[in-house]
Amino acid sequence: MSSSSDHPAAGSIPPSSSSPSAPSSPPSVRSFGGGKVGAPAVRILGTGRYTPEKIVTNVDLEKMVDTSDAWIVERTGIRERRVAAPGELTSDMAAAAGRMALEKAGISADELDMIIVGTISGDMPMPACAAFVQQKLGAKTCPSFDLSAACAGFLYGLTIGERFIRAGGVRYVLVIGVELLSRLLNWEDRKTCVLFGDGAGAVVIGPNDGDGRGILSTHIFTDGSLAGSLFIPGGGSKEPVSQEVVDKRRHLVHMEGQDVFKAAVRNLSSASQAALAANGVSGKDVDWVVAHQANLRILQAVSQRVELPMERFFINIHKYGNTSSASIPIALDELLGEGKLKQGQLVLMCALGAGISWGSALIRW
Ligand code: UT7
Repeated sequence: MSSSSDHPAAGSIPPSSSSPSAPSSPPSVRSFGGGKVGAPAVRILGTGRYTPEKIVTNVDLEKMVDTSDAWIVERTGIRERRVAAPGELTSDMAAAAGRMALEKAGISADELDMIIVGTISGDMPMPACAAFVQQKLGAKTCPSFDLSAACAGFLYGLTIGERFIRAGGVRYVLVIGVELLSRLLNWEDRKTCVLFGDGAGAVVIGPNDGDGRGILSTHIFTDGSLAGSLFIPGGGSKEPVSQEVVDKRRHLVHMEGQDVFKAAVRNLSSASQAALAANGVSGKDVDWVVAHQANLRILQAVSQRVELPMERFFINIHKYGNTSSASIPIALDELLGEGKLKQGQLVLMCALGAGISWGSALIRW
C-alpha cells in the first residue's frame, strides 16, 4: 500500500516510500495521494445510481417554509430534489445503485471483496448500513463497513478501496455514496431544508489492465476545528435521544451556511490544485470536473480559482439538490449515461462536507 504526503502546492507526489512526515509537509495539510500519471493501479469498472421517484420542487417548498423558487435558484442553482418514499430505506437505495454498478462492471456480488458505504444517514445507528447492503446484494461475507465523511464520503471510500486493491489481496470493491437526508432535515428550517435531496450512487473498482487508465491520485483532508459548522448535535452519545433533543430538533441537520460556503471554496480549490500538481497537469488538461453538487456558486468560484472552465463541470444540482456523499457517483453515472465521458479523458473529482472533510481524485477514464 502506498501512502505519501504532500502540500497542495508542493508539486508531484513523492515516491511511495517517502515519509508522511517529510519536512516539506506541514502536518496540518497532510494528504494521501495515489499513483502517478501513466501508472494507475485501479480503475472504475462500472457505475450505478438510484434516485427516488418523488420530486419536490422549489414551488412545493414555498408552501412549507418562507422561501421562494427565485431565492433557491439564485443562491444555489437547485430547482428540485428527490425524496424517498415512506418505507424506502437508505440500504434499498444503496443496493439499487450497487446492483447497477455491478451489472455494468460485469462483476457478480459474490466476487466482491469489500463494500464501503459512505453515509451519515444509514438505516439505523447500528449495525452499519453496509451490512444491510451486503445482505440485499447477496455478497456473502466480504467485509462491509460505513464511512462517515458526509459529502466527502464517496471520495474517502474511493481512496480506501483503491489502497486496499493496490496493496493486494483485494480485487473488487463496491464503493457507494448514499444519503436519505430528507428524514434528518428540519422541514421548518429554510436554511437547510431547501438544500438537500435523497439518492445513491455507486462504483465498482478493480485492478486496471495495464492500459494506463484509472485512478491517478486521491487526496483527502479533515479540519475538525470546523466540526461545529455542519452537524447533527443530538442522537449520539453526547446528547442521547430524549424528548428534549427531539423538541429542540437537535436530532436534525444544523448548518452555518456561510462558514461552510467559504471553507468549500477554499478547500475544494486547494484539493483540486493538489490533484493537478501531483500529476503534473493543469486545469486546461481536465476534460470533466465531477464535483460535489452543493451549490452552483461554490463550483463557479472554484472554476475561477483553479482556472477550470465552467463548461467542463458536469452539473445536475438543479435536478437533485445536494445528495451529499451520493452526488459525485450519481453525476458520474449520468455523465457516462449521456455518452459525454470518453475513454482516455481526464476527470477531476472534488467534494467537501461535514467534519469538515474534503478531498479530490484525478482519474484517466
Ligand atoms: O454539502 C455540504 C456542504 N454544504 C455546503 O457547501 C453549503 C454551503 N453554504 C451555502 O451553499 C450557502 O451558504 C447557503 C445556500 C446555505 C445560503 O446562501 P447564502 O447566500 O450564504 O445566504 P445567507 O445564509 O447569507 O442568507 C442570506 C439571507 C438571509 O436573510 P437576511 O438575514 O439577509 O435577511 C437568510 O435568512 O437569505 C435568507 N435565507 C433564505 N431566504 C429565502 C436563508 N435561507 C433562505 C431560503 N429562502 N431558503
